[in-house]
Amino acid sequence: RKKVTIQALRALRQSKTPIAMLTAYDYPSALACSSSTLTDITLVGDSLAQVCLGYASTTQLTLDEMVHHAKAVARGTTHPLLIADMPFGSYHTSVSDAVANAVRLVREAGVEGVKLEGGREIVDVVRKLTEVGIPVMAHVGLLPQRHSALSGYKVQGRSVEGARRVVRDALALEEAGAFSMVVEAVPKELGRYITERVRIPTIGIGAGPWTSGQVLVFDDVMGTWSGHKAKFVRRFANMKDVRDTGVQRYAEAVRDGTFPDAEAESYAMDETEWDKFL
Ligand code: KIV
Ligand code: NA
Repeated sequence: RKKVTIQALRALRQSKTPIAMLTAYDYPSALACSSSTLTDITLVGDSLAQVCLGYASTTQLTLDEMVHHAKAVARGTTHPLLIADMPFGSYHTSVSDAVANAVRLVREAGVEGVKLEGGREIVDVVRKLTEVGIPVMAHVGLLPQRHSALSGYKVQGRSVEGARRVVRDALALEEAGAFSMVVEAVPKELGRYITERVRIPTIGIGAGPWTSGQVLVFDDVMGTWSGHKAKFVRRFANMKDVRDTGVQRYAEAVRDGTFPDAEAESYAMDETEWDKFL
């Protein structure tokens, strides 16, 4: 498949063809994302913090860590549009800091766009990045980088006031130039309403079936994540059992001496050479 472009995503939205986005954190997961021609976008999500690096939350992830992983993902990515999350703190201090940090992701890692969490308070940053030619994917609804301020990972926009706030944010981000937006953990009615109100593709995660596309965390899809499973997660594979069974069988075979096999899995010396050696 040809490289997916922003224009191609617009066409998918136009034809009501659901857009498939999936996260990746390293070379093998990037290859996996690229293994289906149906995958449209690969996201180096800052969920990297928890699922790959063992941190308690995304707020602990540094820009250097994101750049390091995004480079590996880029090496394994073929046709999907490649987007990376800007880590917590990397776009909050000033517009110029945000540009410098986004440029690192583009220049060092080769990502084609960046994703930023937030609403009206980040429109200046979104506008500037867009102006300098760095495509921005917005992220509204539940903002995991603000889990402390939000007192946890909760569904957003359930009240009239909350729903109005998410819609206002979505419209402001579209106006600032975002080419697409992730809508996380909102009632399905709100996911549909936002999708109808904005003209850019919406990518839902826990936002119901009526957004322009869907995104999930790689380890949730593969069933390798042993932490909390959100209501919106569907496990499409059970890799954890397969993987852990592999580890168990390997360790057992070493322990009972059946691995390696002396013939099939070992090298042999030429007999005359061996006699000389002795
Ligand atoms: O970090 C992440 O994985 C994300 C997606 C789930 C949207 O932001
Ligand atoms: Na994220």
